[in-house]
Amino acid sequence: MNEKTMKLTVLGATGSIGASTADVMLRHPDKFKAYALVGHRNSQRMLALAHQLNPEVVVMTDAGSAAELKGKLPAGVELQSGMDAAIAAASDSSVDMVMAAMVGSAGLPAALAAVYAGKRVGLANKECLVTAGRIFMQAAKEYDAVVVPVDSEHAAVHQALAGHDHDSITRIILTASGGPFRDRDPASLVNVTPEEAIAHPNWNMGAKISVDSATMMNKALELIEARWLFDMPADKLSAIIHPQSIVHAMVEYRDGSVLAQLAEQDMRSPIAYALQTGERLEAGIPWLDLAKTGRLDFQAVDIARFPAMRLVQDVMRGGDSLAISLNAANEVANQAFRDRKIGFMDIVTTVEAVLLRVENVPVDSLEAVWSYDREARVLAQEMMIL
Ligand SMILES: NC(=O)c1ccc[n+]([C@@H]2O[C@H](COP(=O)([O-])OP(=O)(O)OC[C@H]3O[C@@H](n4cnc5c(N)ncnc54)[C@H](OP(=O)(O)O)[C@@H]3O)[C@@H](O)[C@H]2O)c1
Repeated sequence: MNEKTMKLTVLGATGSIGASTADVMLRHPDKFKAYALVGHRNSQRMLALAHQLNPEVVVMTDAGSAAELKGKLPAGVELQSGMDAAIAAASDSSVDMVMAAMVGSAGLPAALAAVYAGKRVGLANKECLVTAGRIFMQAAKEYDAVVVPVDSEHAAVHQALAGHDHDSITRIILTASGGPFRDRDPASLVNVTPEEAIAHPNWNMGAKISVDSATMMNKALELIEARWLFDMPADKLSAIIHPQSIVHAMVEYRDGSVLAQLAEQDMRSPIAYALQTGERLEAGIPWLDLAKTGRLDFQAVDIARFPAMRLVQDVMRGGDSLAISLNAANEVANQAFRDRKIGFMDIVTTVEAVLLRVENVPVDSLEAVWSYDREARVLAQEMMIL
């Protein structure tokens, strides 16, 4: 093996980010080798990936799905199951980098294990920082882990910050596509279906994040994520609607200069950025043709249409228990909407009702994170029954 080869564990390998990560790795077989691929239930997808990437270990966190792979993996690939195996794969001493791309707060333990093991961590799972940002970033400092954002907006900020002094930043502005309902009459949103909400105009993503995009809860989570990643107070963080999704974020400095990062809408771009430790990597992205794009539009976020953006302002200024509760209640309500148990507008209403019932305090232990997470899930279920 080339001595510069980077060994990776991909958490959430069977998902959308996992697929884009595999694509970038396969473009550079001399640079990347899979140590472990971790999935949850999609054994068919894992089988295909295992043949493409030939990892040392395959983990399915769901035991029944691991059983489906018995005797089918390529020779020499070790099959394991359960979250403990995922945690071990994320912290194995032979691993150089972990791509943290499980969905939801279920992704926190394994991503945090990678941080405690001092790995380079490509962070796609925004819920890690929303629920445990204080603990996660403190651990990264203590254990010399390098956390590189994979969310396109945060990867953009990361690039616009390079070489600049933190104190001279006056604003970080994340762009938002506005999702599929950006221009719909708010009164008509009551009846939208999960299929309509998942059909994002610009990005092809997993179901949960697509619905989060439609409610703009995704942008709310991203603002909280930015607060921890870049150590920024709430009043320096904002979002703006940019329907073309070409500018991913902007950083304004005290001299009035604003640096923006532009790229085609393709997650392989921020993934390639996170995977490189020196020279930039070819990622299969078409050249950005601004003459063809023609125009780049921007508009303020309409808080009446997207109440999640109002909620997040209070959450960012409040204690960590609020962010944990917002995330947990949203996971429950988002799933309930996709299961057709509640309407689209009920998602954010449920989250807001939960936030009114929970404590507003700082949180500095994982036990407390899980306790607030559990409480908010129970409350969200109750609110949806009422
Ligand atoms: N997609 C994007 O463009 C994008 C952009 C920015 C950030 N992100 C973030 O990246 C993360 C992944 O998003 P995605 O779009 O790739 O989601 P996705 O396509 O739904 O994939 C989710 C992955 O997580 C696994 N998973 C689901 N539930 C799990 C559980 N309880 N325990 C362990 N693993 C579990 C899934 O496994 P199985 O499929 O095998 O069940 C799959 O590998 C999310 O946090 C999202 O917010 C995504």
